[in-house]
Amino acid sequence: MKTISVANQKGGCGKTTTAINLAAALAIAGKRVLVIDLDPQSHASFGLGANLQTVDKSIYNILTDNSEKKRMLTECIANLCPNLDIVTSNIMLSTLEQELKDKEDAVSKLKDAITPAGNTYDYTIIDCPPSLGFLTFNALRAADMILVPIDMSVFSLMGVGKLLGMLELIKVKIGHAPAVHAVATIFDKRTKYSQVMLDEIRSFFRDQLLQTVIRSSVALKKAAAKGESVMKFDIASNGAIDYKALSEELLSFDRIAEPEKAIVAVTAPVTETVTSAPTQVQAPAPEIERDPTKEIDFLVNAPSANEIFLVGDFNHWKINDESRLSRLDSGKWTKKMGLTPGKYRYKFVVDGEWTIDSENNDKEVNAFGTFDSVIKL
Ligand SMILES: Nc1ncnc2c1ncn2[C@@H]1O[C@H](COP(=O)(O)OP(=O)(O)OP(=O)(O)O)[C@@H](O)[C@H]1O
Ligand SMILES: [Mg+2]
Repeated sequence: MKTISVANQKGGCGKTTTAINLAAALAIAGKRVLVIDLDPQSHASFGLGANLQTVDKSIYNILTDNSEKKRMLTECIANLCPNLDIVTSNIMLSTLEQELKDKEDAVSKLKDAITPAGNTYDYTIIDCPPSLGFLTFNALRAADMILVPIDMSVFSLMGVGKLLGMLELIKVKIGHAPAVHAVATIFDKRTKYSQVMLDEIRSFFRDQLLQTVIRSSVALKKAAAKGESVMKFDIASNGAIDYKALSEELLSFDRIAEPEKAIVAVTAPVTETVTSAPTQVQAPAPEIERDPTKEIDFLVNAPSANEIFLVGDFNHWKINDESRLSRLDSGKWTKKMGLTPGKYRYKFVVDGEWTIDSENNDKEVNAFGTFDSVIKL
């Protein structure tokens, strides 16, 4: 089971919308998903149309130490539709911090509560409240991944540092370091401001910003008001398309992790080196069919650059040592990448500037409204 906590102390940035629609999209993809509504406002519970009459079977009842109110996780799970379950919230949750303040295990309550469900679900998605208090701390402690929705407003990046600081504290104190990814939300490509904000968010989060951008979509508001996921409300809406894309991007992380293990177990693939720019990639030679991995040599002519990275679908757009290009004496920069047949989008990051490959005419508009270079093998 992978636990994803959707957190950002800024109110209204799309946490609940992301939690419920990502969960619904994963469920449609065949994954067994549990949503935990960890916000006393109960928005995720409303937004998925959960029955809130059973007030004594909420996340509060699971986390409390009050023996009269205490319930097991399994007693509080409600089924919403195939593959999708929820533990609802209620206002009592706001009293929990006070109730547990002297308990040593208070910050691990949620983690301890959901661990036994590990074999029942593929994903647990936790919707956090808009604060960095006790409840969010529990959600960060329980998470394998923190998903930080960032909307395109002037305040969007304010306070993100505090969230990252809390994660640092958890790492130092408990040795727990979940992966952190940001997702841009409520993006309106008609406004220049959205684009400016997106660039700022990208330069702040760099490789941690997910490729999927959630566009502004009225269907998301209407679906929540009706108590339905956007997939059920209108599968053809931009909201449904974007949350499906987000689910696929997150699923691809796990898919990539699995084959890597398999390759190690079987045999290392033999690769063929193609020492040309991406535009000049030749058709696969017959022997490639026996082993489809091709080593592509990406080249950039930038004698005055200080550092260059190659980011794309093949490495989750991550800027790190593995995506760094090496400088040749000629002033050109090179990076060899083993790729299997398929279509890949990519860019170079030259001294912090995201640029397309000037040697490659094959490019496509991306979700940000700018271009990515494209390579087809
Ligand atoms: N992509 C979107 N397009 C249009 N409206 C959106 C989008 N995402 C969220 N909204 C709307 O913005 C409002 C705030 O969204 P949401 O409740 O998901 O934010 P939140 O971060 O969970 O808020 P809170 O901090 O109060 O928990 C809601 O009315 C929601 O319907
Ligand atoms: Mg919310």
